Formats: sequence, structure tokens, C-alpha cells
Amino acid sequence: MASAKAEQKILDVLADMYLNQRRGMMNVQPEDGRLLRLLAEATGAKHIVEIGTSNGYSGIWFCLALRTTGGKLTTHEIDAGRASLARENFKRAGVSHIVTLVEGDAHKTVTRLKEPIDILHLDADKAGYIDYLGKLLPLARP
Ligand SMILES: C[S@@+](CC[C@H](N)C(=O)[O-])C[C@H]1O[C@@H](n2cnc3c(N)ncnc32)[C@H](O)[C@@H]1O
Repeated sequence: MASAKAEQKILDVLADMYLNQRRGMMNVQPEDGRLLRLLAEATGAKHIVEIGTSNGYSGIWFCLALRTTGGKLTTHEIDAGRASLARENFKRAGVSHIVTLVEGDAHKTVTRLKEPIDILHLDADKAGYIDYLGKLLPLARP
């Protein structure tokens, strides 16, 4: 029951973000968010890495799964304003304890990652994907 209540709180925050914050945030669609959650739950993901946090919308979808898999999210954002909004959204969704938000240019900051990655969500500068893959594929689980 407590868990259902916590889930509803997260879904309410997502609905509010969809209604009131979408403009300029380049978020995934709610259908895609559900798919991300499903993928994470079905694979029992313990560590999800995201490049491109924006205001935290897709990250919070991942968190819905990570609550049940016992995992965590490391998400990267270069824009200070969006990172700050994301921090607020993670807080009001009650998921801050399973999220590490790394602020800065992910081309540099991802080199700090050392732990295995179960899901890598690349959703930032498209021209940079080859560089991200070169740096992060060695950490991805088969
Ligand atoms: C498409 S939006 C991410 C949307 C988010 N995944 C969602 O669905 O809610 C792309 C984000 O990547 C960020 N970004 C672009 N280049 C980046 C870089 N080099 N390092 C970190 N973040 C970057 C942008 O500031 C922007 O907020």
C-alpha cells in the first residue's frame, strides 16, 4: 500500500511535468517513458546511465523501475538551469536517494564512471554519440 502511494506520487510529478514544464525540455513522450521503465524492470537493471537529464523527466520514468530493482541512476546534464530543475523534480518525486546528477560536459564527466552499466540512455548531443559509445561501451554489461 505504501509502495502504491509512493508510485502514485511519482506518476503525479510526471503528469505535472508533462503539463507544466515540457516547453524547451525536449523530453521523451510519456509512451517512451513507459517503455524505458518496462525495459529497466524487465532486465532488472541495477545501474542506469543517462546522458541528457534535461529536467529529469525520462530519469524519473527510469526511477519507477529502479525502486523495484533496487538500482540507481547516474544522469548527466551540461545546462545548469535544467540540472537545477531536475534536482527539484527528483526531490519532489522522492527519488533523490537513487539518483546521482552529474553536472558538466558529459564528454568529460563520463570518464569518472567505473561501475558496470545495465542500460545506457544516450539522449544529448547527437554528434557526440560515437564518443559516448567509445567511452562507455566497455562498461556496458553484455
Ligand atoms: C533531449 S534533452 C534530454 C531529455 C531527457 N532525456 C528527457 O527525456 O527528459 C538533451 C539534454 O542534453 C543536454 N546536453 C547536451 N549536450 C550535453 C553534454 N555534452 N553533456 C551533458 N548534457 C548535454 C542538453 O542540455 C539537454 O538538456
